[in-house]
Amino acid sequence: MRTQKERGVSEAEIAVHWQEEEYYHPSESFIRQANEKDRSIYRRFEMARFPGCFAEYAELLDWYRHWDRVLDTSDPPFWRWFAGGKLNVSHNCVDRHLADHRNKAALHFVPEPEDEPIQHVTFQELYVKVNEFAALLRDFAGLKRGDRVTLHMPMIPELPIVMLACARLGVIHSQVFSGYSAKSVADRAADAESNVLITADAYYRGGKLLDHKAHADTAVALAEKAGFKIDKVLIWQRHPGRYSSPTPLVEGRDFLVNELLKDFRGQRIAPEEMNADDPLFLMYTSGTTGQPKGCQHSTGGYLSYVAGTARSVLDIHPGDVYWCMADIGWITGHSYIVYGPLALGASVVVYEGLPAWPDAGRPWRIARDLGVNIFHTSPTAIRGLRRAGPDEPEKYDYHFKLMTTVGEAIEPEVWRWYYHVVGKDEAAIVDTWWQTETGGFLTSTMPALHPMKPGSTGPAMPGIYPVIYDDEGYVIPERSGRAGNICIANPWPGRMQTIWKNRERFVEAYYKRYCRNRESTDWRDWPYMTGDGATQESDGYYRILGRIDDIINVAGHRLGSKEIESAALTVAEAAEAAVVPVPDEIKGRVPEIYVSLKPGVEPTDELRRRLSDAVVSEIGAIARPRSVVIVPDMPKTRSGKIMRRILLALSCGEQVGDTTTLANPEIVEEIRKVVGRT
Ligand code: WT7
Repeated sequence: MRTQKERGVSEAEIAVHWQEEEYYHPSESFIRQANEKDRSIYRRFEMARFPGCFAEYAELLDWYRHWDRVLDTSDPPFWRWFAGGKLNVSHNCVDRHLADHRNKAALHFVPEPEDEPIQHVTFQELYVKVNEFAALLRDFAGLKRGDRVTLHMPMIPELPIVMLACARLGVIHSQVFSGYSAKSVADRAADAESNVLITADAYYRGGKLLDHKAHADTAVALAEKAGFKIDKVLIWQRHPGRYSSPTPLVEGRDFLVNELLKDFRGQRIAPEEMNADDPLFLMYTSGTTGQPKGCQHSTGGYLSYVAGTARSVLDIHPGDVYWCMADIGWITGHSYIVYGPLALGASVVVYEGLPAWPDAGRPWRIARDLGVNIFHTSPTAIRGLRRAGPDEPEKYDYHFKLMTTVGEAIEPEVWRWYYHVVGKDEAAIVDTWWQTETGGFLTSTMPALHPMKPGSTGPAMPGIYPVIYDDEGYVIPERSGRAGNICIANPWPGRMQTIWKNRERFVEAYYKRYCRNRESTDWRDWPYMTGDGATQESDGYYRILGRIDDIINVAGHRLGSKEIESAALTVAEAAEAAVVPVPDEIKGRVPEIYVSLKPGVEPTDELRRRLSDAVVSEIGAIARPRSVVIVPDMPKTRSGKIMRRILLALSCGEQVGDTTTLANPEIVEEIRKVVGRT
């Protein structure tokens, strides 16, 4: 293990760079009130103090039983954090705030349409709702500690209530993003072996009422076809008192939660005393194969990490009104809408609808009316808001102390608009880099300690020690600006525990490439591979260059090329499919799909439409290809691999570069003609 100096950036280093690069400094008033206002956090988390330093995060929580060991490495790389400790997440996010904050809003629910009143759920009300729903889950649905339950819920306050009720009982939730297809729900429910599905009847998005319950029927049918039975569907009514889906209820299988809850009024459930390493939830994400990975997150390590990082980086104080625009169905929403902020007792905004609908002033009216002072979103949303209403923010009287950007790299131009116009030159910005697998932030500036640099994520988080490898596996010198594969040299508490029921795939996906000794119980032999390319610049900041594998980042969300290709191949006429990520002004990247057909099949618009629809029905609208290009054959290497690099160049109208490794170089010109026509 190489020795590591303190990760903070020295003043001298900043001075050197100040001349060449663009830095922005946090305001005096931000620094004065910040949770971390001096550099001691980097000393507290220096390598010499690893792993004990992470106890600082765990100490933010209430424990029923103190841990025996901070880190148990006996079964590599299945590290156990806070081994022997016992706690409950719902107690930490709800009950423990009652003493001081009973009447404070835990959730502000901002519904669509705009004239429907905002709902405020106090910590006391959250406590009541979580308990009553936990009673229902236990006594009606028959769920107990260790069982899995699949959620397919839109952005309504009942989603965090369900998650916290599961956590109270020790039931492992697996929320599938509400925009994902019924097929995705069926596959994930079967993989997690969860016989209960929790969903909602219908919800508004962009002025349209979407029939959500219909997906539940399809999901149950698809699961059944694959040999898995979902026997109960619990349906929340978006508008209590009326069932707003046109899809009828199935007798004996479908139940309206709002009706059932009447039998559980006043019930209280003692929180289960969970082990620190009991799983809290599963979050399925795309990998390099067609099958999504069920990332399994822990109770104690995960909650400690998200609470600790929400405190230091998001600078959450109990008095703050915090709004993260992400959907709770993604890891950002789990870690930094629900678990981190609520563990700290913040008031959290849950927002239904589209950011710029009915107009681009909507987010700023919400910020003004609720007094939001921390705003968390993604480059994709920022680009969209900038295009829809570049001058809107200044029309509204709101003040952010902190803003974040997460999910993909942000263009400096867009960053500057975010800083000057949305942040009104007064908000500090953090650009946080992390992943579904990592639970929480890996790199970010500390908002009161470091200057911001547009397009760069900042130094490593305290206690996180990145190492960048070249393709031969050699370590690239620190701060050299050279690109390589960024890995994390040490364990940290937020990392997923494993892939659900698939230990081998976990080791294979994240450790195989750089592990120095498979027998070793020394964590130094097990760097974690993130799958991203990155550079570390001379100021110590990391710039993330994007995925080195077959994953496409669309609007900050991960899609596996393989999943999209497999979806296209469900169309009988398709012979081969290849997906490439083409640049898009708002979404960053969008998939474009190349398909070759079986012999004798004619390319038609109808077929192109069916291929596109197949992707949407298998995965969800987020994966809809920009276009479907039907080609006579794929460019292939002699070993038969499709060269996606060449297809991408053709899509972008660029030079294709070296084609000497192709078995069929003549195909390039033929494809170019087809691309020209689409
Ligand atoms: C991938 C992870 C982070 C939670 C939401 C997405 C990319 C993430 C940044 C950033 C540049 C970023 C990486 C990463 N990414 N944050 N600040 N700058 N790229 O989680 O769906 O698991 O995607 O998103 O490529 O590996 P995810």
